[in-house]
Amino acid sequence: MKKSMKQSGLQVAGIVSLALATLGAPSPATAEDSLVLYCAVNEPWCRAASSAFERETGIKVAMTRKSSGEIYAQVKAESANPRGDIWWGGTGDPHVTAAQEGLTVEYKSPMLGELQDWAVRQWEQAKGRTVGIYSGALGFGYNAKILKSRNLPEPKCWADLLDPKFRDEVQVADPNSSGTAYTLLATIVQIMGEDKGFEYLKSLHKNVNQYTKSGAAPAKAVSLGETAIGIVFMHDMITMAIENPDVKTVAPCEGTGYEIGSMSIIKGARNPESAKKFYDWALTPAAQVLGAETKQFQVPSNKNTPIPPEAPKLSEIKLINYDFEKYGSVDERRRLLAKWDREVKSLPK
Ligand code: F6P
Repeated sequence: MKKSMKQSGLQVAGIVSLALATLGAPSPATAEDSLVLYCAVNEPWCRAASSAFERETGIKVAMTRKSSGEIYAQVKAESANPRGDIWWGGTGDPHVTAAQEGLTVEYKSPMLGELQDWAVRQWEQAKGRTVGIYSGALGFGYNAKILKSRNLPEPKCWADLLDPKFRDEVQVADPNSSGTAYTLLATIVQIMGEDKGFEYLKSLHKNVNQYTKSGAAPAKAVSLGETAIGIVFMHDMITMAIENPDVKTVAPCEGTGYEIGSMSIIKGARNPESAKKFYDWALTPAAQVLGAETKQFQVPSNKNTPIPPEAPKLSEIKLINYDFEKYGSVDERRRLLAKWDREVKSLPK
């Protein structure tokens, strides 16, 4: 009797699960259903991309937003027991470093053929372990109203930022956490040479009111009038300028560095198939337009993604021949950051 009840229970359970399967009812979460995303673009874009990807694929995304250097440090710290699947966005340098250290894996996306040369070059240089998703030039911006009210000149060049009149008027991020600030460090060294470059950064230190964690934070502070000048990627200043006409964006007269924002799949990812799906999707025009839709004005890497009209025109900016291989290398990154901590950040003001 008992046995037959058990049997009929099993039969019922079988019928129910068959019916659910036929009706297309959701099955319990499997590895293919989820994705742990480490996101280094600005928060609104991180959120829009996570929701759109979830909507289109049914894959549940757990997203964390951090700065480029912070994600690099996290991926490295977790390498024995990886928690993240994909690292999307942020400056290319730490992606290149992670690739060199074997923290990320090689992947050849079917979308590669649609990408700009600079995005593919990034992939080739990193032996397939990272790919370019956008680019943007470094610069600075200022709040014209604040400068006027303090009777201060409008800066046009990197050299202008050393003017003692700008004491405590400049804000920039810390290059340990921020890819933007690391790009500044590497740019100044490439424009001026290492000795003069560090002299420049030491003098700049006198005018810096705060080293923020995130690279784009000084753009917001300029718009709010919390600092007169902010060193950021030009596209981040433009996001503020479209809302606040007092905010002005500058391409420094001496020339400037730029980033190739990148994406990498983390080695040992628990959801490798979801990571590849996200990777391919993030290289499509449909995904890349979410940048401009959330007021992020980098130049997208897919040739078919329209370049937002607000994006700084890279062809009109004096860009240096930024050496991504050298400044993304493990040793150079470690050496430059240690030197900056020792010789710049620790200086009294
Ligand atoms: O999303 C804005 C942005 O400036 C990106 O272009 C860049 O890759 C990233 O932020 C850098 O952020 P952080 O300096 O905080 O690492």
